[in-house]
Amino acid sequence: MQPPTFRSAFTIGVVMAVIKIEKLTKYYGASRGIEDLSLEVKQGEIFGYLGPNGAGKTTTIRCLLGLIFPTGGKATVMGHDIVHESFKVRQNIGYIPGDLNLYPKMTGEELLEYFSRFRPDKPAVLKDDLVTRFDLDLTRKTKELSRGNKQKLIIILALMHDPDLLILDEPTLGLDPLMQKEFYKVLREFQARGKTVFLSSHILPDVEKTCERVGIVKEGKLVAIEDVKAVETKKIRHIEVTFLDTVKKEEFDIDGVSVIQANDHEFKLKVKGKIDPVIKVMAKHQVADTIIEHASLEEIFLEFYGEVTR
Ligand SMILES: Nc1ncnc2c1ncn2[C@@H]1O[C@H](COP(=O)(O)OP(=O)(O)OP(=O)(O)O)[C@@H](O)[C@H]1O
Ligand SMILES: [Mg+2]
Repeated sequence: MQPPTFRSAFTIGVVMAVIKIEKLTKYYGASRGIEDLSLEVKQGEIFGYLGPNGAGKTTTIRCLLGLIFPTGGKATVMGHDIVHESFKVRQNIGYIPGDLNLYPKMTGEELLEYFSRFRPDKPAVLKDDLVTRFDLDLTRKTKELSRGNKQKLIIILALMHDPDLLILDEPTLGLDPLMQKEFYKVLREFQARGKTVFLSSHILPDVEKTCERVGIVKEGKLVAIEDVKAVETKKIRHIEVTFLDTVKKEEFDIDGVSVIQANDHEFKLKVKGKIDPVIKVMAKHQVADTIIEHASLEEIFLEFYGEVTR
């Protein structure tokens, strides 16, 4: 399939920038939304937009869609200015808002049909496939749907017209793990057809599996743009392990590993980067039980990005 074409060609190297944000700033009165934020998203990539609560993800997305107006700076989406041409921006994108109220008395089917009428030129080519894959009952009224099923309906609504660009604000909220997996599979299929995805999340493991690049936003500022592989090396895990035999603390003298708490049998470890050397030490002994948890994004921010320097 041919990749989508846009009105004007912005380029990063030879690849077109589908989203180009330059020093974008949004203040809500005196309160900071985002500040001086610049980034570009290339055609055909799945870009992860990560940040803790209140960082400015939704603010950025609402600006891109022309739902709110920036206080300063500028941005284009598919070559269209987000302030003066926001109608055009919205014409060919799929958008999943972080919070959406659905018309409560409509059934899923009626809702999809209703919104389809706004796009007579764009048939809902993916509707049946998505309804089957997400296993959604379209005959129920939206007010009767569970949180997860509402989210499925919102996903289908945003994706069924097979838009060239998806702008997704925490799209997997409420989905169970199987459905989340299916959702990310759908996104990769979009990418394979030359489409672009801008995906906001505060869940690092989700984004890692799907995106090539991530932008990290904190207190309204972009603190880093990283290849996902680089974030991988910044991973922090907490390990609790109980051994049946006696283990010496020194055995965990490994680069990136801190022993937080230890007795002969029970250890609490903090592991930065590779986990494999720790597992190899554990495997030399008799393990009664272990819990391995990923650190929250917030912790990774504190550890690696510390203070906002820009
Ligand atoms: N309508 C509003 N009026 C005033 N301040 C707002 C408004 N919307 C957002 N803010 C502020 O802007 C900042 C960024 O909020 P935003 O909703 O963009 O964060 P977020 O990264 O989407 O967070 P979350 O992960 O919780 O969804 C926050 O400090 C928030 O309080
Ligand atoms: Mg948000």
